[in-house]
Amino acid sequence: MSTERRVAIVTGAARGIGAAVAGRLSADGFAVAVLDLDAAACVNTVTAIEAAGGTALAVGADVSDEASVAAAVERIATELGAPTVLVNNAGVLRDNLLFKMSVDDWDTVMNVHLRGAFLMTRAVQKYMVEAEFGRIVNLSSTSALGNRGQANYSAAKAGMQGFTKTLAFELGKFGVTANAIAPGFIETEMTAATAARVGVDFEAFKQAAAAQIPVNRVGKPEDIANTASFFVSEGAGFVSGQVIYVAGGPKD
Ligand SMILES: NC(=O)c1ccc[n+]([C@@H]2O[C@H](COP(=O)([O-])OP(=O)(O)OC[C@H]3O[C@@H](n4cnc5c(N)ncnc54)[C@H](O)[C@@H]3O)[C@@H](O)[C@H]2O)c1
Repeated sequence: MSTERRVAIVTGAARGIGAAVAGRLSADGFAVAVLDLDAAACVNTVTAIEAAGGTALAVGADVSDEASVAAAVERIATELGAPTVLVNNAGVLRDNLLFKMSVDDWDTVMNVHLRGAFLMTRAVQKYMVEAEFGRIVNLSSTSALGNRGQANYSAAKAGMQGFTKTLAFELGKFGVTANAIAPGFIETEMTAATAARVGVDFEAFKQAAAAQIPVNRVGKPEDIANTASFFVSEGAGFVSGQVIYVAGGPKD
């Protein structure tokens, strides 16, 4: 593996899945830009990477804002080097049944997931094309298959899959692959917030979810980090445009 000098960007990496992916890519030899809304919130992720001997840069940016994305990517290229790996992981939930869903709930979810992935990928692709190497990983979800109370989120996560496949078509000839990871239930602050919203204790919520999952447990951020690690590896260069469900069992 000759990943030592490669630079990876992980969005939404202050916590949860993004933090685990950032840590794993650092262990794999990447210098990692830990990007989240507030740079100060990235400190834990950056400190953990540095304590393990890696290189990380905390970057505050809103992925849904064009100017913020442009400034962040430019800064990363200057301070860490040309980014050739991008993990579009930043995400939010604004769950509600359709009849109660506000336009703001709809727009916020579309903007962070879809507009965010579009803006980040558009800003980073030029470095990948120049390097004739790139790896893009987009976070979808099992909710892409449809989920009650998530009209906005399921539409965005299904959109991530179409976006991924189109990137694979457009960028393949430049040595760039694009793949999507569609997690099932992963234990993070996002799922903890869902439990709180529906008024269920998080432990009971996880147990109920695990009972429906073939491997009989809920997922951990590391489960997603392991999959991302494969997709961004040099050896995965012939794997592109794929959606892998990391959900403890089959999904279709
Ligand atoms: N946890 C799950 O069960 C699960 C399942 C399927 C998919 N996912 C997806 O995985 C990704 C990570 O989820 P998580 O559970 O770690 O969530 P999380 O809420 O713990 O972390 C998401 C991070 O994204 C950041 N973020 C939000 N909006 C942003 C913006 N505009 N710009 C930059 N950063 C922003 C947040 O500040 C936060 O640090 C999301 O895309 C989520 O939709 C999660």
